[in-house]
Amino acid sequence: MPSVYIETYGCQMNVSDSELMYGKLQAEGYETSDSPVGADVVLVNTCAIRENAEQRVIGRLGELRRDLKPGAVLGVTGCMAQRLGPRLLETDTRVQLVVGPDAYRMLPALIDGARNGERFTATDFDLEEHYEDFTARRFEGVKAWIPVQRGCDYRCTYCIVPTTRGPERSRRLAEVVRETHEVVAQGITEVVLLGQTVNSYHDGRHDFADLLRAVGGVDGIRRVRYTSPHPNDFSDRVIAAMAETASVCEHVHLPMQSGSTSMLKRMLRRYTREEYLACVERLRAAIPGLGLTTDIIVGFPGETDEEFEDTLSLCREVRFDDAFTFKFSAREGTPATRMPPEWTVPDATVDRRYDALVATVRGIAREKNMARLGARVEVLVEKEARKGELLQARSRDFKTVLVPGTPELIGSYLRVELTGTTGATFTGATVQERSALPMAG
Ligand code: 5AD
Ligand code: SF4
Repeated sequence: MPSVYIETYGCQMNVSDSELMYGKLQAEGYETSDSPVGADVVLVNTCAIRENAEQRVIGRLGELRRDLKPGAVLGVTGCMAQRLGPRLLETDTRVQLVVGPDAYRMLPALIDGARNGERFTATDFDLEEHYEDFTARRFEGVKAWIPVQRGCDYRCTYCIVPTTRGPERSRRLAEVVRETHEVVAQGITEVVLLGQTVNSYHDGRHDFADLLRAVGGVDGIRRVRYTSPHPNDFSDRVIAAMAETASVCEHVHLPMQSGSTSMLKRMLRRYTREEYLACVERLRAAIPGLGLTTDIIVGFPGETDEEFEDTLSLCREVRFDDAFTFKFSAREGTPATRMPPEWTVPDATVDRRYDALVATVRGIAREKNMARLGARVEVLVEKEARKGELLQARSRDFKTVLVPGTPELIGSYLRVELTGTTGATFTGATVQERSALPMAG
């Protein structure tokens, strides 16, 4: 049997796409390989969101070239493949396949051609494509990524995603529920619903509220998460479904990007600072104990000191549990690159603001986490921690908790007391709940 190795970069959608590609190729007679060395087919599933994500892939392709066995097929898939298309074949002569996110159905045929020495680019969008007939080959045993929507119809001016993943389309609710039953049958109890603006999900008949209730109601599902929502798509129906469905976890990753209304306008985020805050308040009012995380960009064109201060002050006002912070990266073809050159924020200013933002975000997270010490929470054990003898587990509100224990506990739910924190993650001790003890006398 020929073997295939896929190396994945970028977001969870790419992780999920790699699972679909592995599944498809396995169905076509390939075996999976856990190393590029010796594999007959090596695919690099790429991300294009920031310049440095692409630089890493370029560097990696150079390394892989040395590891490949003679005659092995090297392909590039994902967002960078879609963005660069045939240019990738020109710049890297070893690459034989360039396949975008809507063209994975063609992979087996393209690989056959490549094994005969041919080179191909496949980057057409297909608005009907959901890979419904592919069976994902999952490697993660505890939770399952389930794509529910592909593409994006927003046009945030910094973002390459609408170019690389095409227009938004949603899978049919019945298909998502079918896949949820399948993963439960494999012993998985947590699902993560994926979409670029996942709460705008609509399959023509059902919205995201219907989807949360349907997936959350599947027997055997104990945790439902989703990523990433857009603030404008949190209808009252969606918030109510989240609050009323017991299995939906008390956590929202709500990308803010900036705390300044004028900046948000240049980013074409379609909400103001006040509207973002109102969304947070509605979520918190409906869902007690909600964990809230976010994405923030610094150094977007034209960012003034006042605008940056507004970002810091919104962070202080919301008090996020955690934030992913990014320095703006100009992506070829996005509207941000057509803004006046004098709007470019100097590197030194970006660096200074970035450091200030990270310090603010971390300080708030630390304060919030310190205040949680002593609390008892339910965690799901996900994997062995990097530090010996410990397991990495997660609370419903998305805190990482390291607990002592042996690998047989992976996949089980524990009640733990939060005993320590680094400021970002916790250590916990398993506790026996009173109600679980045998009744006395
Ligand atoms: N530069 C920097 N960060 C970006 N993101 C998206 N595009 C860019 C860009 N051009 C960030 C946003 C998004 C996250 C996934 O990546 O914060 O929410
Ligand atoms: Fe990009 Fe905006 Fe779409 Fe998110 S909502 S993928 S940031 S265009």
